[in-house]
Amino acid sequence: MSEEKKNPASIPEQCEDDFSKLMQADRLVTLGRLVAGVAHEIGNPLTGILTYAYLLRDSFAKDDPRREDLELIIQETLRCREIVRGLLDFARQCKLKRERVLVNEIVAKAVRLVEKQKEFKEVKIITELDPKIGEISADPFQIEQVVLNLVINAGEAMPKGGRIWVRTRSLNDGWVELEVEDEGVGIPAELKEVIFEPFFTTKKDQGGTGLGLSICYGIVKNHEGEIRLESELGRGTKFIVRFPKHSPKEESTP
Ligand SMILES: Nc1ncnc2c1ncn2[C@@H]1O[C@H](COP(=O)(O)OP(=O)(O)O)[C@@H](O)[C@H]1O
Ligand SMILES: [Mg+2]
Repeated sequence: MSEEKKNPASIPEQCEDDFSKLMQADRLVTLGRLVAGVAHEIGNPLTGILTYAYLLRDSFAKDDPRREDLELIIQETLRCREIVRGLLDFARQCKLKRERVLVNEIVAKAVRLVEKQKEFKEVKIITELDPKIGEISADPFQIEQVVLNLVINAGEAMPKGGRIWVRTRSLNDGWVELEVEDEGVGIPAELKEVIFEPFFTTKKDQGGTGLGLSICYGIVKNHEGEIRLESELGRGTKFIVRFPKHSPKEESTP
């Protein structure tokens, strides 16, 4: 990845501007409410569709060709439900509940969570956590979401398995860094910006919703942080996230 290091990919200025406009606090809350409302309203009928599709499928004999049609309805409905879940996560990022957060604790918890999934059977996660990293002022669930999304993407980039490195480090200039590196398929240079857009996915067939990275981006920006990536096709990808360290000045805010 040596060449990438010299010229790390980042979101172009225009895109960054658009995002920061969107991220203005009150607009974001309104958007969050709207998205949550829509997702909620769609979620309930989806559950109905699923329940009845399952019932109907199981009412047909095993060799009835109509079972296949219903299977398709079920799969597509499950996909819609994934999108709705993603939208609810997206909405949740709009409401920040900050507290003092031990970064390493969150990272370790998120890693434990994904490790147990069957998709990670052939994946080895190596954690290198800087014990001196300390705290940031953040919403712990959102930080966990960032870690989860990055680690899950890293795993999905290695369908035959491989290693993921999750690192934290404390930088001297007031930043805390989180790094998730994989040895997966890599990201083509021309996609390095669009992957952060909501609904962009190259994993449609595997049930990807394209919301993970846009959620990460929103959360990181909301925490005054930065996210960037280095990647080499066929070699792997490294996402690097930075958050400002907790400063005692913030102590007085509840
Ligand atoms: N670690 C990675 N290695 C390779 N490609 C990645 C990685 N992380 C993200 N991507 C690319 O970015 C796209 C968007 O990611 P994301 O927003 O999480 O949506 P999804 O995972 O549902 O596709 C993915 O479809 C994939 O093409
Ligand atoms: Mg993803």
